[in-house]
Amino acid sequence: MHRTRVQLGERSYDVVVGRGSLRELAGLVPADAKRVAIVTQNGVPVDVAPHLPTHVATSRHIVGESEDDKSLATIERLCEEFASVGLTRQDLVLGVGGGMVTDIAGFAAASWHRGVRVAHVSTTLVGMIDAAIGGKTGVNLRSGKNLVGAFWQPCGVVCDTALLDSLPEREQRCGRGEMAKYHFLTGDDLLALDLDERVARCVQIKADIVGNDERESGRRAVLNYGHTLGHALEIATDFALAHGEAVAVGMMFAAHLARALGRIDDARVELHRRVIQQHYGLSVSVPSGIDRQRLVDLMHSDKKAIDGLTFVLDGPRGIEVVRGVEASALEAAFTAVSVP
Ligand SMILES: NC(=O)c1ccc[n+]([C@@H]2O[C@H](COP(=O)([O-])OP(=O)(O)OC[C@H]3O[C@@H](n4cnc5c(N)ncnc54)[C@H](O)[C@@H]3O)[C@@H](O)[C@H]2O)c1
Ligand SMILES: [Zn+2]
Repeated sequence: MHRTRVQLGERSYDVVVGRGSLRELAGLVPADAKRVAIVTQNGVPVDVAPHLPTHVATSRHIVGESEDDKSLATIERLCEEFASVGLTRQDLVLGVGGGMVTDIAGFAAASWHRGVRVAHVSTTLVGMIDAAIGGKTGVNLRSGKNLVGAFWQPCGVVCDTALLDSLPEREQRCGRGEMAKYHFLTGDDLLALDLDERVARCVQIKADIVGNDERESGRRAVLNYGHTLGHALEIATDFALAHGEAVAVGMMFAAHLARALGRIDDARVELHRRVIQQHYGLSVSVPSGIDRQRLVDLMHSDKKAIDGLTFVLDGPRGIEVVRGVEASALEAAFTAVSVP
């Protein structure tokens, strides 16, 4: 069992990683909570009830499975349900699921009574290594992904890797997309580790970054490597391309863009291709039928756009935020990832 502390002063919390770590869940429920509102999906094959303290009352709140369900309407419905079960300020919201569920549960918890405690049982690879840690919560608008939300840290996170046994290959692949991101951020050969160590190492990488920049006023933005184009691709494909898959293409695009801007050489671009495609098994080209202008427009509406286009790019000082990238600089990168 690996236990990683996310160091955030009075908001610090533990992330417990390992096969069978669900049995640690009871220890993460605050002693004064009398009720636990479990937010989950029908497709999440996990029963947490046996792992909760016997004295707490529970209720189940189901959210849908499509990205369209990651909406303010869902938050409103959940809060109405919290009202009807009598969830108080002392109680706990428990997200049980992947990133969709924990983003929604976290934001509902941040909003209900202006903020109640939340804990997560993360059940996907993306969730365990990324979404459940760090306190970014929120939902989508039609105008863009994750545009409404709050920073709301959980009081504990369980990542029981046994739950990944039932995760479909495509979801595993999405997890590998975010994992490849950590590979480039740290240079660590994560695939050389066994599953528990690999997840724990990713949690540690994220915890370190979040611990130094909780609200993304600086370094935390590097966690968005591959995400500028990635978010645009998710929307442009109507989520046919899943988050981790889109991020993988986004990192390849970012590598070509960094090359076009003279920040990295051809060998480093080729390393990106090898790592993303061969090692992590992800596609590095945009599906057909999407044009450049649509992607540029979507990237402009991305919340990270402050002046011109903002990207997270590799370079001589490693991966960093680069602002004010001219649209004209994108042409070579679009060609390289097969956007007509
Ligand atoms: N807050 C953050 O920092 C952050 C970081 C990364 C991603 N995200 C968000 O996370 C979301 C994606 O999360 P995801 O990739 O975990 O996908 P997901 O939560 O949509 O889950 C994918 C599917 O797998 C099912 N599932 C979940 N656990 C399962 C299990 N153990 N076995 C079988 N099926 C299971 C779910 O019901 C769902 O249908 C996106 O909305 C993204 O924006 C947030
Ligand atoms: Zn991501």
